[in-house]
Amino acid sequence: MLNFKKKDLCIEQVKLSDIAKEYGTSTYVYSKNQFINNFESYKKALGVRGIICFACKANSNRTILKLLADIGAGADTTSGGEIYRCLNANFNPSKIVYAGVGKTFEEIEYALKNKIFMFNVESLEELDAINKIAGRVKTKAKIAFRINPYVDPDTHSYIATGKKGTKFGIPYEDAVKAYLIAKKKKNVIVLGIHSHIGSQILDIKPFKVAAQKIKKIIDDLEKNGIGLEYINCGGGLGIKYSKDQKAPSPDQLMSELFSVFDKDKKFIFEPGRSIIANAGYLLVKVIYRKFSGGKNFLITDAGMNDLMRPTLYEAYHEVMPIKKINTKKVKTDVVGPICESGDFIGKDRMLPVLAQGEYVLVTCVGAYGAAMSSEYNSRPLLAEVLVDGNKTTLIRKRAKWEDLLSNEEQK
Ligand code: LLP
Repeated sequence: MLNFKKKDLCIEQVKLSDIAKEYGTSTYVYSKNQFINNFESYKKALGVRGIICFACKANSNRTILKLLADIGAGADTTSGGEIYRCLNANFNPSKIVYAGVGKTFEEIEYALKNKIFMFNVESLEELDAINKIAGRVKTKAKIAFRINPYVDPDTHSYIATGKKGTKFGIPYEDAVKAYLIAKKKKNVIVLGIHSHIGSQILDIKPFKVAAQKIKKIIDDLEKNGIGLEYINCGGGLGIKYSKDQKAPSPDQLMSELFSVFDKDKKFIFEPGRSIIANAGYLLVKVIYRKFSGGKNFLITDAGMNDLMRPTLYEAYHEVMPIKKINTKKVKTDVVGPICESGDFIGKDRMLPVLAQGEYVLVTCVGAYGAAMSSEYNSRPLLAEVLVDGNKTTLIRKRAKWEDLLSNEEQK
């Protein structure tokens, strides 16, 4: 929802220069209408065939979660903390699913007591734990097995999860056996099957291959008298980070996947990035400029602690000035203030010559931006601002230096 009002870059109807003035920098800024639209296009594509569970690891800001819960989103969670946040943000527990290879006993108990919809179970030892704890708290746990379908999603190796040799899910060849074991557990109700093959996937093909492999398991289970109601296709749909990329729509993804399965099946999708990434921006200030080793550097007030993706995955995020400037463009490295050469936002970017104190905007950081930030170098967590039309709201206060010490011994 970026646009220009004369020379000023705006998110929805608000000038970024006004946001910088009012809230300071660096600041995460979100376009409400962008992520609502993104969610609505998933909802429309799915219709009444199931639930869209927002992967809240992508962005767990309470206001954003509440807005999504309000329009009918479920949540895909991966820790007790995420379940806690989602319940607090008014998600209906009957729309919360819970995945993760290392659910602790405390987390399982918390999830059961709060009557979440379904566990995506990732090992037989986890199944045992869930069955025992459900017995102890006198309830029944609804489960799907997360199956590793051994599909290479062609994405960064750190975020490819459905490949042979990763830690995720039940090995493909053990799937039927796992269901036969689960069927005998007293405190477990077998409800579905889950696979999540990875993230930032721009090609529908690997999703479809995984779906076909899951269908094969469903057929084998039916032969063994086990019928499944829900198919959870995970998340992972990629977004367009740069102009030369193309991303399929939720509708395209779903129509390919629906064609694999029988008409009576219900579906769960767990999108994170494709809901919130392009709704989020990082507004940063140029603190200093430097020419060194034949290169121009813009040193900004945001570091790798605030946005880890470039450092961790060498991820590309577009960087742009927030004013229309007609000066000539020069090759520039946009970097942060942290004491590591890996602390950069973008390298070799053609940017106009900017003055000290001007601002630049980093795009598509709504997913895994604020969510993965830390206090490294004792830098307090950033403010987050929501834009809705011509209105802005502070949805997370900028932390202070005092906050850095709040959980430490005060003697
Ligand atoms: N479901 C499960 C079980 C997941 O593990 C994930 C993401 C999702 C859904 C949502 O995937 P999405 O729709 O967002 O692709 N930090 C990395 C991404 C890690 C993704 C982890 N799992 C990044 O910044 O690229």
